[in-house]
Parts: sequence; C-alpha cells; structure tokens
Amino acid sequence: MQKQHTTSIIIFGASGDLTWRKLIPALYNNFKKGRLDECANVVGFARRPYDNETFRARLREGVQKFSPDTFDEKIWGDFVTRIHYFRGNLDQADDFAKLHTFLHGLEGDNANRLYYLATAPSFYAPVAGFLGKAGMSKEDADKWRRIIIEKPFGRDLASAQALNRAVHAAFEERQVYRIDHYLGKETSQNILFFRFANTIFEPLWNRGYINNIQISVAESVDVGERAGYYDKSGVLRDMFQNHLFQLLALVAMEAPASFDADAVRNEKAKVFQSIRPIDLNDTVRAQYEGYAQAEGVAPNSQTPTYAALKLFIDNWRWQGVPFYLRSGKALKHKNSEIIIEFQRPPHLMFDLPEGRDFTPNILSICIQPDEGIQLRFEAKVPDSDQEMRSVNMDFAYDDFFDGATIPEAYERLLLEALDGDASLFTRSDEITASWRIIDPVINSWAERAQPKLATHKKGEWGPEESTALLARDGHQWRFGCVSHRIN
Ligand code: BG6
Repeated sequence: MQKQHTTSIIIFGASGDLTWRKLIPALYNNFKKGRLDECANVVGFARRPYDNETFRARLREGVQKFSPDTFDEKIWGDFVTRIHYFRGNLDQADDFAKLHTFLHGLEGDNANRLYYLATAPSFYAPVAGFLGKAGMSKEDADKWRRIIIEKPFGRDLASAQALNRAVHAAFEERQVYRIDHYLGKETSQNILFFRFANTIFEPLWNRGYINNIQISVAESVDVGERAGYYDKSGVLRDMFQNHLFQLLALVAMEAPASFDADAVRNEKAKVFQSIRPIDLNDTVRAQYEGYAQAEGVAPNSQTPTYAALKLFIDNWRWQGVPFYLRSGKALKHKNSEIIIEFQRPPHLMFDLPEGRDFTPNILSICIQPDEGIQLRFEAKVPDSDQEMRSVNMDFAYDDFFDGATIPEAYERLLLEALDGDASLFTRSDEITASWRIIDPVINSWAERAQPKLATHKKGEWGPEESTALLARDGHQWRFGCVSHRIN
C-alpha cells in the first residue's frame, strides 16, 4: 500500500561535510524527540558511488561523532530505515527526472518535499533550475514543495540578485528558505523574547538611553582546512553580511505586530534599509599572523580574517547611536556577545574617587558558548561613605532550564522549514539590502587598499586598530560572557 501525505527531505550534496556533521544529527535528534513522524524519507543525492548501506554507515558515524550524547542504537535503527541514497550528477537534467521517478516510487502520490541545497554554492542556481524543469517545484492543494538554500547566498549584490532571479524562476519566494544558522541558535531567538515579552527593557531601547551597541562574534579556531574557500571570501562575506547583520537586525528592529514570518522579516528588512553607507574610516581589517602561509591561501593574500566597523541606523530610534561590529578567527576565545551600553545618568550626585570614571550600566547578551544574559549596574560598597562598585545580575541558561541542553541550530531550522514557518530564514529583500551595505566596503578595501591590512597574533583579541576605532569615540570593547564580569 502506498503511503499518503508524508514528507520527503531530499539533500543535494549529501556526501559532503554538512550532511553528516549537522543535518543528519539534527534530523536524528528531532526523530528521537518524536518530532519527525511525518517525515518518511530522507534521500541523499550525490555523485559518489555509495549504496544505501555505505551511505547509512557514514551517517551513523557522523551522529556518533557529532551527537555522541544522544546516539542510541535502537533509535538509530528505527530512523535509518527512512534514509536512502540516490546517485546522481548535479549538472545533469536527466538525473533529476530519474530522481523524480525514484521519489515517486518511495512516496506515492501525495508527498510533500523539502529540498535541501547542501552543495557548493555554484550549484544552487542550476539545481533550482533543474528542479523547476523536472516539474519538481510545482505545488498543488495536496502537497507542498520547499527549498532550503545554504549560505553563502551570493558573494556580492549582483550575484545574490542573480541567484534570487534563478531561484524565483522555479520557486515562489514563499517556498524559499535561506539558511542563516545564527537565527536557529536559541540565544538569537531569545533576543525577540527578551525585548518583546518583557516591559522593562523596551522603553529604554533607544537613543535616549542607549549610548552604543557592540556585536562581537569571536572565534578561536583559525581557517583550518577551509582556507581555499575562505581566501576567496574573507570575514565580511563569511560572517558580517549574514550572521552579524542578522543579530544586528534582531537587536535594532521595531516590534512586529505578530510572530508571523513576514511580519518579522518586514521589520528586519527595514533595519537593513536604514543603515547609513559605512564610512571607510570607520572600518578595520586585519589578518592573523601565519594566515598567508596556510595551505590553500594565496601568497601575499590580502583577505581579512578579522574586521571591525562602526555603523549607524538612520531612523528615529537609533539616530546617532554607534553600532560597533567585529568578528575574526584565531582570536583569544570563542565568544559571541551583544553589549548594550546605556547612557550615563544626566547628573551624578555621588563623589567618584580620584581617577575613577563613572561606569555605565551594561547589558550583555551571551549568544555562545556560555549562554545567558548579564546586567551590570552600580551598587554602594557596604560600610563605605559614598563608594560604589559595579555588580552583576547574571542569568545562565543552565541555572534556570535544568538539564535542558541547548539544541543545535539546525534542529530548530529543519523543524521550522517542515512546519512552513519562515520567520527564522532570510527573505530575498533582506539579503539584497545587506549586500548593498557590505559590497561598497569590500570594493573600497580592494580598490583603495585603505585602511591598511593590519595584523594580529593568533590568540589575541584582534589588532590595535580595532581598539583605536572605539577609543576615538571614548568607548572600549566590552566583554561579559567569558569572565562573567563585564569590563
Ligand atoms: C559559518 C562560517 O557560517 O559560521 C564559518 O562560514 C564560521 O567560517 C561559522 O566558523 C561559525 O559558526 P558558529 O556556530 O560556530 O559560531
């Protein structure tokens, strides 16, 4: 008997790293939590000469390696029967027609399909095109078709627009789910809850009370084996246009009227559209020492592995408030953090000791790895006359959500795509608006060779130029997550 109204997930590029490292562990964990009942088939499409057995064995290794705490022999045994391998070429239309027939044999007539492009970016447009030509993107009342597209979505504005056009030739925008895995992180999702499920912060969340905002995504790993890709990309394409900008949008956006995907994305898009073109003098680019000697990196490579920049959002809420963004590889610690630095009190009636400056209130949102939120404020030192000191209120996920492990971003994102909720995915206008901001910086860096490419040692927090960028405005980069003490 044929199955009815089931769902198939078809992964293109299934022999690659993403599938065994992230996608299958995420699907397995969702299955284990009982959240994947509808999903009857997971089909891997790739060129390698695997059969079902070899493919499944490799995926099992991946789950054991990347999700060791949740691997369970019996549950894997139940899950793995849904996994199939289909050998095909991404550049051959015929193979898509064959895949269509193969899927039909597995599914019967009325299955939904979620296509996942885990291929090299150069295949995104052709695969979407082949799916369209094979009639595989067409929906009807009985079945939906959706497509998830991995990052990077383009390498500049023109290529992102071209990719949007190619994808839209086969799929409507509402069928398209562009991944930014930072949106799947629990703590990123929590930003909107923190802001809009509480009343105490939002009245202060504006230029009247906030002095500056800092978004740092620091990585301790270097480029490792990805040097070949990375050298053609650099930190602005790899981290800013997507992850840092998405965090920025969540922090800066207006309250949407609902949690509906378009309501949320309309507000995020408005943030990108309001970012003032970035002044080159407000940018820093740097490379960690030793990068240019890594295998796969061009000798004398000018690719930045670190960047810091200041930007402004030209709207009523944020006029004049600097947003400082930075990200880099081979830094001191892995740490993604958002700092909200509040204004000083308009008048201070307490005496400060000689040489001590007033310390403003700071809210630190720890995205990873030490997930939580801290608030720093001033308190009177006991048994003193007027001495004050900064103290912390500290919320750690561990303390409040006993035993609840924070799931991998891909778990949530896959579920949302299966559910048809695109609020955690980027819409085409967000993508183009963010490239419009980043493109001129990348181009000017290349054309004018300004600012000079700075260097920093591995294991530092970045180059001096980055410290100077904030010092110029009387500010400093702040940290809270790493030490649980905001500086
Ligand atoms: C990816 C980048 O999108 O994000 C990588 O291509 C980077 O260079 C990674 O290392 C960081 O993700 P996370 O979840 O480890 O912060």
